Amino acid sequence: MHAHGSSPASRPAAPPRAQAGLARARILGTGAFLPPFVRTNRDLERLVDTSDAWITERTGIRERRLAPEGTTTSDMGAIAALAALDMAGLRATDLDLIVVATVTPDMPMPSAAALVQHKIGAGPCPAFDIGAACAGFIFALTVAEQFIRTGKRHRVLVVGGDTLTKFLDWTDRKTCILFGDGAGAVVLGSDVAVDAQDRPRGVLSTSLSTDGSLVPALYIPGGGSAHPPSAATVEGRLHFIRMNGQEIFKHAIKNLVSASHAALDDAGMTTAGIDWVCAHQANKRILDQVAIRLGTAPDRMLSNIDRVGNTSSASIPILLDESVRAGKIKDGDTVLMSALGAGVSWGGAVVRM
Ligand code: COA
Repeated sequence: MHAHGSSPASRPAAPPRAQAGLARARILGTGAFLPPFVRTNRDLERLVDTSDAWITERTGIRERRLAPEGTTTSDMGAIAALAALDMAGLRATDLDLIVVATVTPDMPMPSAAALVQHKIGAGPCPAFDIGAACAGFIFALTVAEQFIRTGKRHRVLVVGGDTLTKFLDWTDRKTCILFGDGAGAVVLGSDVAVDAQDRPRGVLSTSLSTDGSLVPALYIPGGGSAHPPSAATVEGRLHFIRMNGQEIFKHAIKNLVSASHAALDDAGMTTAGIDWVCAHQANKRILDQVAIRLGTAPDRMLSNIDRVGNTSSASIPILLDESVRAGKIKDGDTVLMSALGAGVSWGGAVVRM
């Protein structure tokens, strides 16, 4: 089938896009920010009917960080972004696109990305948010790498940041124990380079999916157009996270594995070719199950959930940055990422550093 009005004979020569298609989005720098205020499981024992032993055993979380009043998602995202730019050896003015994954922007409008752009002194360049909750970073990475592959953009900042502790019901022991705040960032550059073994580097593949029939399993009912903020929505506690933990648990294991396999298949790889798994840090028991089903050795599973809890869109980029700076993830290592969050949305990515 031919495009309307064209025939093989009259079709113009392939656009430069075919050459640009050789370019991949390579991670040039990583950065992260965790707010300094620590809330331990012992602190939570004073707030709700729970125990350090229960939380540690059922989730693997020992403590999490909380953004204090006045500290926003874009504040944290900007600090993470500057650290990533510094590692990349680039200035904010070098960026030609900014994508921020968040479901807790500073305000309904403008985007957190516009605020991050201003705070780091970047632009003018397009800047927008992506909302896929805890899967947000994989969605943002995918969008950003498409811009680079098509040759439209060359230096892209991807931030994952959330302040979900501001949306927690601190009387609900089923949710308030899980989440923490933070931000992570990567700077992507257009690159045609190969590693020492002649293998391509950068984002090798991604896979995304959403099943909207699962919305009731994890959501914040109030504050949007369904229930605009009012005294009644506050009274009804509609601005807090509601979650069916067991349902999310089940889907997380299944879909983190399926997203991983989809990304691996697309990259023409198997888990044998993976050096590190950098999966969304939601629950240690979920991560253990994912490792078993993927056949990944436990020491290849990166984790910081004990210190930071579930930081939503920030989870993967914070863990990535910590692992790079600790010298664990090295140049040329292949990293399998996967995440799942409200939507329910999930995704995977294979990235060679
Ligand atoms: N402290 C002590 N007891 C708790 C508790 C807490 N913080 N939270 C729940 N319980 C109790 C429950 O009330 C229940 O008691 P009951 O048997 O008397 O009714 C019991 O523990 C078991 O509850 P259950 O919900 O079956 O626990 P669980 O093993 O499924 O663990 C989660 C609960 C939330 C930790 C777990 O389901 C989970 O992590 N789910 C995924 C959530 C997630 O990752 N969400 C974000 C995705 S991005």
